[in-house]
Amino acid sequence: MNIQWYPGHMVKAKRKIMEELKLVDIVIELLDARIPMSSRNPEIENIVGNKKRIIVLNKSDLADPAINMEWIDYFNREDKKAIPVDSVSGKGLKDILSASGQLMKEKLNRLKSKGLLLKTVRALIIGIPNVGKSTLINKLAGRNAAQTGDKPGITKAKQWIKVGPELELLDTPGILWPKFEDERAGMNLAFTGAIKDEILDINRLSQELLAILADKYPEKLNSRYKLGENEADIAPGKLMEIIGRKRGCIISGGDIDMHRVSALLLDEFRCGKIGRISLESPKEFLKNIPINYTRGNKEQDEY
Ligand code: G4P
Repeated sequence: MNIQWYPGHMVKAKRKIMEELKLVDIVIELLDARIPMSSRNPEIENIVGNKKRIIVLNKSDLADPAINMEWIDYFNREDKKAIPVDSVSGKGLKDILSASGQLMKEKLNRLKSKGLLLKTVRALIIGIPNVGKSTLINKLAGRNAAQTGDKPGITKAKQWIKVGPELELLDTPGILWPKFEDERAGMNLAFTGAIKDEILDINRLSQELLAILADKYPEKLNSRYKLGENEADIAPGKLMEIIGRKRGCIISGGDIDMHRVSALLLDEFRCGKIGRISLESPKEFLKNIPINYTRGNKEQDEY
């Protein structure tokens, strides 16, 4: 999905979600486990307000398991329930069901004491494009149930998808805009494929990614591309040439096809072939330490 977000679209998206929030008991906020802060909508607290919320760290199968745990702790400290999920395999889905029951326990008990019964908990799934909303809805529903977007001119009745005896989901996810005003977040969104490559300089993007991987995950880089000792420390442009040569990305005359190497690196990162990698960790946010995208900033590995 490739949505161009203009101020008018943001206002419309926000208004639509605010309307839908009135219909539900809880919100399931999807974040990309590799970049939870960059994949978070900048106005999320405003939009969701006091509504009960579960944070799903989706694509957790692609993220560093140890850092997934750190994020769970981080959100716990904010008194928010966060659950690592792989929406493709379905790992973690049961935890969403039990967390939603748990969150509503108090309300259910209150209603019960008044002789009333809340039969099912209703939930709305929200998140930025490509974070996995439709995949999660379909997995929870056990079929292709998700409506991915609005069709102009067609007003559709709201459909509720029953997920187990106690949870119902709105079939249309709430689509939010990403954090593109922040350069670091924009890069992270581009690395993970949330921003379409066609509008990006993929050569620069893959060099930036290589610099980060060499800094944070040198062993994974070495092992995937069979780099020699200290090769991961070479400047990213040169490293791309080495990888290009090893992978046969050569054009006539023996030069390296940099476009092909760039595409290969981004693709292998995005589908997890380089390993399970997290680009953001809570420590950076707890200590409010800015990440430097250039090489040689080894201090950020220390904590
Ligand atoms: P959206 O509705 O939020 O826009 O996202 P959607 O479900 O369409 O998912 C976007 C891509 O992310 C899909 O890849 C989907 O398979 C993948 N995905 C979703 N959840 C997970 C997850 O938990 N783990 C992994 N590994 N992948 C996940 P795609 O079909 O290849 O689409 P595209 O990337 O080619 O657009």
